[in-house]
Amino acid sequence: MDDAHPTDDDPWTALAGDWAAAWGGFAAPARAALLDAAGVGPGTRLLDVGCGTGELLADAAARGAVVAGADLAPGMVARSLAAAPGADVRVADAEDLPWPDGALDVVAAVNVLHLADDPAAAAAEAARVLVPGGVLAVCGWAERDRCALDAVEAALAADDGEEVDPESPLRSEGPVRALLAGAGLAVEHVALVEVPWTAADDDALVRGLLLGEDAAGLAGRGPVVVAAAAPFRRPDGSYRFRNAFRLVVARRPG
Ligand SMILES: C[S@@+](CC[C@H](N)C(=O)[O-])C[C@H]1O[C@@H](n2cnc3c(N)ncnc32)[C@H](O)[C@@H]1O
Repeated sequence: MDDAHPTDDDPWTALAGDWAAAWGGFAAPARAALLDAAGVGPGTRLLDVGCGTGELLADAAARGAVVAGADLAPGMVARSLAAAPGADVRVADAEDLPWPDGALDVVAAVNVLHLADDPAAAAAEAARVLVPGGVLAVCGWAERDRCALDAVEAALAADDGEEVDPESPLRSEGPVRALLAGAGLAVEHVALVEVPWTAADDDALVRGLLLGEDAAGLAGRGPVVVAAAAPFRRPDGSYRFRNAFRLVVARRPG
């Protein structure tokens, strides 16, 4: 697997292998809820925007869907192609999808819209490639007070002497609804989905939560992570954090 050639514009290619190991499986309950709510089955033409390491593509293909993926990071695209052989996976920006108008029945975006430079433009682009009557299903982190992992983020910020970044508006239901309505879509379904994140031991905990840090960063900040994670440590030395994603499914008018 070639995860090389990172650039400043593409931090994700360099992270692809570690992302797959620490985070690739964690959103599985959200993926299943999304595929159910969007009615994905045999023959559904599905595009996963920000497809990462391809788990949703593989799950959708297993249901008989005809799957396509888009991701800015070539390293992520390579992993998606390995996860879902035969999928049409392209290096592409969510705001400029290389698919024609009305080409897809379902567009999915999991844990990605908040990363777009212009989430409204990404939502409008997803709506453009949907067939009339098709659905856009977006899923991402819910409010901080629903996500135990944010305790670690707060501890890291405090250790750095910094304020925690303001909560993204897209972690709340209203702004996501407004975003999809602004793209001309009608919201049909909203649900919270539990997405627990687990780590087998201290090493997996630190590597997962300090994704992308070099050896010095892991050594320096690892103890902060371990201390902040203490309430989530289990007797066998593993960790489990309860978190929630919010799934919102909206339909393009027919
Ligand atoms: C947090 S990961 C989520 C990956 C996957 N959807 C999942 O749930 O496991 C975000 C992914 O979105 C990609 N990404 C970030 N910004 C993007 C954009 N503007 N257009 C397309 N992909 C983007 C990254 O390269 C990365 O693979």
